[in-house]
Amino acid sequence: MPPGPIPIHWPDGSCTSAQPGCPWLEAAQQAGMMIPTGCLGGSCGACEIEVNGRVVRACIATVPSSRCGSLTVELATDPYW
Ligand code: FES
Repeated sequence: MPPGPIPIHWPDGSCTSAQPGCPWLEAAQQAGMMIPTGCLGGSCGACEIEVNGRVVRACIATVPSSRCGSLTVELATDPYW
């Protein structure tokens, strides 16, 4: 069975869905969320978000399939990056 779209809960309270494998930056854009970016290459950390409590670098990560059925995104704890 192919995985379907995963519901994603965003820090502003909105909820969208994205296919597993979709780049996080694209998923955020579709949700109207701005993830700050810097290098776009995975080395600066500006784009870090937390997905279900795990820090990922949005510019190089993609939406994972989720065993619990949905994903909750928090922006990285340091807002001054
Ligand atoms: S933009 Fe630099 S690590 Fe993602």
